[in-house]
Amino acid sequence: MTSSRKPFMLTAVFLTGALALTSCSSDSTADGGAASPAASDSAMVPEIDVAAFTADFSEMAKLTDIAAQGSGLIQVLLPDTTTSTRYVQYDAPYLTQAFEAAGLSADQFKIDNAQGDVQTMQTQADAAIASGASVLLVDPLDSGSGAAIEQKAVDAGLAVIDYDRLVLGGPQDRYYVSFDNVSVGEKIGQGMVECVDAWGLADPNLLVMAGDPKDNNAKLFKEGYMSVLDPKFTDGSYVNAGEPAGTWVPADAATTFEQQWTADGKINAVVTPNDDNANAVIAVLKKNKIGAETFPTTGQDASLPGLQNILTGFQCGTVYKPIYLEAQTAAALALYLRAGLEPPSTLVNATTADSELGVDIPSAYAVPIWVTSENMGETVVADGAVEVAELCAGDVQDACTEAGIS
Ligand code: BGC
Repeated sequence: MTSSRKPFMLTAVFLTGALALTSCSSDSTADGGAASPAASDSAMVPEIDVAAFTADFSEMAKLTDIAAQGSGLIQVLLPDTTTSTRYVQYDAPYLTQAFEAAGLSADQFKIDNAQGDVQTMQTQADAAIASGASVLLVDPLDSGSGAAIEQKAVDAGLAVIDYDRLVLGGPQDRYYVSFDNVSVGEKIGQGMVECVDAWGLADPNLLVMAGDPKDNNAKLFKEGYMSVLDPKFTDGSYVNAGEPAGTWVPADAATTFEQQWTADGKINAVVTPNDDNANAVIAVLKKNKIGAETFPTTGQDASLPGLQNILTGFQCGTVYKPIYLEAQTAAALALYLRAGLEPPSTLVNATTADSELGVDIPSAYAVPIWVTSENMGETVVADGAVEVAELCAGDVQDACTEAGIS
């Protein structure tokens, strides 16, 4: 992803309305992606700032008027429930909360999960189009199928948003909501380096794993962590023990790891690209009686098993992507488009290059945080992302006490 901050992304059409803004703007029509008729001239358009969302969802209440102006279903398509717990643990509930906080009723939005099946996702999209949906958010299983789903939706007059994963080669007229995924990868790399020091690892022999190559994010994450690790490999302080083919399937990650480790017993650290892959790899380590704080692993998503592995010393940290921010950003953007309004530049604050299409996609990024035992209490726990009773259950209780989490 080449991305750039884009504070002044206003089209000529929107500029006319935007110049009159203080906290609200007079109405203007979107120049693209609008699925429903433009709102009435008397309407006020709230200027939501991407940095203003909070864990209590209060910012969404500013959007109740435009939620009332718009019409048609907002449909969200999530990819699976097995490559990360995030889709069930965070995305679906937070998206629901965001739409409801803006005043949408249960029949005005729908969140489906394709359970890893491309055809299921297409069928879910077709059903939404047939029911008169006006906005489609797609977290694709791969860019090819995502682009086909989105093109069909655009042809039927829907506005489309790539959710979390960029749909390379998707329709020209769309938006993207995510995190800066190269920076997510950099945090994984930096977290690994800090952990190697903290756990006193002599002669790091690092296996570099990756997510599914069909996911554009996996490529960006790797770009991020390699930018931190390559200098270590080059100066000889770390050994690059291999870069096996990527996957998001935890069982496949475990098999790959086990094969590599069996072939090269010197491997003593592994970049695992998300918490669920890490959890599968950690099961292999535990089976082989590897102790706590000896074999660094990494991750992202702040999944419950990931957080517990961090507390018990089997994972260095996780990139916490506060999905309540991503969900509110996506929901807000969808509500502007549904009302036929141009989203403000305070919300759409970046661009992302679609290398296949050769255009920059207007984007909104939320900000990720590297979480270890030290800051887990003040971040994930304080945000209410996990229940302390669940996090600190059983064996994890002592580690929670030590980390000051109660
Ligand atoms: C998401 C990650 C997730 C992975 C596997 C990526 O596109 O950004 O949060 O862990 O897919 O589902």
